[in-house]
Amino acid sequence: MAIVWTQDLNTGIEVIDIQHRMIVDYINQLEAAVKQRDRVAVGGVLVDLTDYTLSHFAFEESLQEDAGYMFAKPHKSVHEVFAKRIARYQERHNGGDNIAEELHAMLVSWLIDHIKRDDMAYVSAVKGSMLKVIAEKDKSGTGWIKRFFK
Ligand SMILES: [Fe+2]
Ligand SMILES: [Fe+2]
Repeated sequence: MAIVWTQDLNTGIEVIDIQHRMIVDYINQLEAAVKQRDRVAVGGVLVDLTDYTLSHFAFEESLQEDAGYMFAKPHKSVHEVFAKRIARYQERHNGGDNIAEELHAMLVSWLIDHIKRDDMAYVSAVKGSMLKVIAEKDKSGTGWIKRFFK
């Protein structure tokens, strides 16, 4: 079943929520490819999803570092473990295995769990550090950072 975006997946950091929705979109595209038994489409989505997710991870990690988030390192490790799992699926797919269904199930449970637990945990630290930047930047009249948050 396609993932439907629900309120409890929103972190309240707009740029992060947009990226998470994009990842959900890729997972739903993967499901569509699985249903159509379209191996080429599965391979294509797998590449795009991996690229996008890895850059999302890097972005999240830099926000956490800038905020001095105390669990930045373990969060990064969780991302790395996931990246290895995805790479393993990629190898199996390239080797001719039909991994699509298993991969889809793993992605759904991993992503939802990671957003709700690990990502939600950094939100207040990252928001707090961004609010400090807002207070400083506002003196010079820049409004961009306000739009960073919903
Ligand atoms: Fe995330
Ligand atoms: Fe994360």
